[in-house]
Amino acid sequence: MSCWGGALRAPPQLFTPIEVSPPLNYNFPMSYEGKAKIMKDGPTEGTMIMYFKDDVTAGNGKKKDSIPGKGKINKAITLKLLQLLEDNGIETHLIEDIDERSILVKKLKIFPLEVVVRNKATGSIVRRLGLEKGMEFKRPLFELFYKNDELHDPLICQEHAFAMNLIYPDDLLLVRKTALDANEILKEYFSGIGFDLIDIKFEFGVDEKENIYLADEISPDTMRLWEKGTQVSFDKDVFREDKADLLETYREVAKRMGLKVEGI
Ligand SMILES: Nc1ncnc2c1ncn2[C@@H]1O[C@H](COP(=O)(O)OP(=O)(O)OP(=O)(O)O)[C@@H](O)[C@H]1O
Ligand SMILES: [Mg+2]
Repeated sequence: MSCWGGALRAPPQLFTPIEVSPPLNYNFPMSYEGKAKIMKDGPTEGTMIMYFKDDVTAGNGKKKDSIPGKGKINKAITLKLLQLLEDNGIETHLIEDIDERSILVKKLKIFPLEVVVRNKATGSIVRRLGLEKGMEFKRPLFELFYKNDELHDPLICQEHAFAMNLIYPDDLLLVRKTALDANEILKEYFSGIGFDLIDIKFEFGVDEKENIYLADEISPDTMRLWEKGTQVSFDKDVFREDKADLLETYREVAKRMGLKVEGI
C-alpha cells in the first residue's frame, strides 16, 4: 500500500522520455569574435585558441568599455579554475596554456544554453521573483537561459529546451550534474580564499564523438563573488553598477588565487 492509498505508482520521472527529431543540428564554430574573446582554429584538428580581450560589456552589450589588462587577468583565472575542475574529475575543454592571453581548448559545438547555478539570490532572480538579495537557497538552484542575443538570453525551462531541440534530455541530465558538481568544487575553493560564490554561469558543448565538456571561460565576468559574510562584490557587478574599479577588483581575486599576472 503506498501513501496514495491505492496501487503503487511509478516514481515521478525527472524527464518524460521524448523523441528528439530532427536531430540536433549545430555546427562546429568558425573563427568568431565575441564580446570578450576571440575564438580561432587551433594548430591541430578539433582544437581552438581562446584569446581573451580587454573588452567588457554588460546589459547585453549596452554598457561597454575596454580595460587594459582585464583579458590577461581573466585568462589566468580561467586557466587555474579549469585546471582545478579537471583535477577534481570534471571534464573541461582545456587542453593547455598558450600565452598570457590565450589557451588551447577542444573545439566544441556549444549548446545554445547558459547554465546558471545559484547559491544565493542576487541579480535577475531578485528582480524577477522579488526575493531578498542574499537569500540562501536550500540547495543550489539550477537554471537555463537560451543563448540568443536578439531575445536577450531569456530564462527557459527544461521543456522549452527539449521543445526547441536545444539539447537531448540525457545530455541535460549530465550537464546539470556536472554544473552542480563544479559549483561545489568552486564554492569550496573560493571559501578558502575569503569569498562566497554567489552564482555562476557555465557553457557546455560536445566534440565530434558527442562527448560533453564544460566549456568557455570561468572568471569574475561569469560568476559572482562576495567578500565572505558580506555583500561586497568582487566580480563584474562592480562594472554593471559602477561600484568599484574593475581592474583593481579582478586583480584582488587573482592575487588571492595566488596568480601573478605580468604587467598589470
Ligand atoms: N571549446 C569551445 N569551442 C567552441 N566554442 C566555444 C568554446 N568555448 C566557448 N566557446 C564559444 O566561444 C565564444 C566566446 O566568445 P565570447 O564569450 O566573447 O562571446 P559572446 O559575445 O559572449 O557571445 P556568446 O553569447 O555566444 O557567449 C562564445 O560564443 C562561446 O559559446
Ligand atoms: Mg560569452
